[in-house]
Amino acid sequence: MEVFRELAGLREQVAAARAAGREIALVPTMGALHAGHIALVEAARRPGTCVVASIFVNPKQFGANEDLSRYPRKETGDIAMLTEAGCDLLWLPPVEVMYPEGFSTNISVAGVSEGLDGAARPGHFDGVATVVAKLFNQVQPTRAYFGEKDFQQLAVIRRMVADLDFDIEVTGVPTQREDDGLALSSRNVYLDDEERAKAVALPRALGIAARAIAAGTPVEKALADATTYLANAGFEVDYVSLVDAETLQPQADATRRRQLLAAARLGATRLIDNLAVDPAG
Ligand code: PAF
Repeated sequence: MEVFRELAGLREQVAAARAAGREIALVPTMGALHAGHIALVEAARRPGTCVVASIFVNPKQFGANEDLSRYPRKETGDIAMLTEAGCDLLWLPPVEVMYPEGFSTNISVAGVSEGLDGAARPGHFDGVATVVAKLFNQVQPTRAYFGEKDFQQLAVIRRMVADLDFDIEVTGVPTQREDDGLALSSRNVYLDDEERAKAVALPRALGIAARAIAAGTPVEKALADATTYLANAGFEVDYVSLVDAETLQPQADATRRRQLLAAARLGATRLIDNLAVDPAG
């Protein structure tokens, strides 16, 4: 796997792959890779495809009081994992290459980015949309892969791709989980042993609420019960919400695909997770 830190070299190599008839697939990441990221690379790998992963801890998507400075960075291990997974090229831009002096553009996707994490983390999805649009222009893939764990992020990116006519097929890859159900996340390394034991309450609360809603429990009651369940487990809850899976608007229309989304804090660590509500229960 070749590693690029300058745009010209990356573009040259991607152009050569394209000229050789290969399709370009992009897997954007912020590094500190785990099996969830490797599942994205595996989904991207198809015969005749050049898989480009990116690692960039994007300062624009972190709020002033968030974890940018302590976000885990594991470049050597990440390179080994991507090589092993069969990734072809790695785009590893320094911050001054991604955002040179004078950089002034912001991409803001209204609607889908406004509630939930958009409300809890002002500016976060502008940062995500801006860097993903840059990555799309830098790599010019025809396919791109994102984890469904960041469900709202995926909806924001799909909206941006549609609105800005990016000719890119966006694929959401199912959340990878630990044996006890905790969603894999680079931020799980922040959890101490006691917090890690409590963290399983997050997927459990979503599972209980999803089954209750599918079985006809009023949505408000199921959401309130899930919030209490999380609080009793030691979480400080940001939100537990049921939304339309496409628009992310709070909705009661059970004929449409619905998704439960939650964000909650254990100590200094903020975890998110989501689950589809299956109408069949
Ligand atoms: O999901 C992530 O790791 C990041 O938000 C992304 C999509 C790479 C943009 O920085």
